Amino acid sequence: MTLARQHRIQVVAHRGASEDAPEHTLAAYKKAIEDGADALECDVRLTADGHLVCVHDRRVNRTSNGRGAVSALELADLAALDFGSWKARDEAPDWEFGPDDRADTSVLTLERLLELVADAGRPVELAIETKHPTRWAGQVEERLLLLLKRFGLDAPASAADSPVRVMSFSARSLHRVRAASPTLPTVYLTQFLSPRLRDGRLPAGIRIAGPSLRIVRSHPGYVERLKRAGHQVHVWTVNDPADVDLCVELGIDAIITNRPGPVLRRLGR
Ligand code: G3P
Ligand code: CA
Repeated sequence: MTLARQHRIQVVAHRGASEDAPEHTLAAYKKAIEDGADALECDVRLTADGHLVCVHDRRVNRTSNGRGAVSALELADLAALDFGSWKARDEAPDWEFGPDDRADTSVLTLERLLELVADAGRPVELAIETKHPTRWAGQVEERLLLLLKRFGLDAPASAADSPVRVMSFSARSLHRVRAASPTLPTVYLTQFLSPRLRDGRLPAGIRIAGPSLRIVRSHPGYVERLKRAGHQVHVWTVNDPADVDLCVELGIDAIITNRPGPVLRRLGR
């Protein structure tokens, strides 16, 4: 008999259970927790008055009834907007949005999301992606680390012990995080492969690769090279059953998906 450690793929809800509920809202994250997701993914941006909010786009136009850049609006301006009803209109006619849902579909602060995770009643991890880090030259990371400190999450004993990780397409953003908090895990996101990256190398000190599914599909051998170099691999955005199977076959460590429920079922969990 061979004794082997069971490889358990982590299922990460991308912007919450964002196929079912409006992305980056409390409703989407509650649904993801209910569905059994191991971790939640969120994008963070800074408001004009220095709050970290969970919004993907630079502007609020697509996902709310307002207009303008997140960075030009204050938290109170964002709190007056509806981040829910676009979903039924544009994507999911089955999404029932009533007046009672208002509190769950207003703008979500990272602080509120951290509270939700703390109160989940079971371990749930958080994968936080820093957006527009060059424009704010360090402020996003600084605010993020201050907030994590308030929750006792900024300085884990080791990366393996950390329920929070920071992801970015910007190596500079990740280096800022690492300089302030060396044990916090960092994920380098990529949607294009330079020759250096293609060899399985990551920017100095970063141990987790976050390639897009397109990269994984179109570069056979890439995941193996990353693994051989000792890196974990977290892939986004994996929604189709055949792609879940591919991730299993390749030994991917985390699947980032808009559909945590169906992906967990595909994995037999
Ligand atoms: O989880 C990584 C993925 O979210 C990166 O792309 O554009 O969805 O933030 P994006
Ligand atoms: Ca993201």
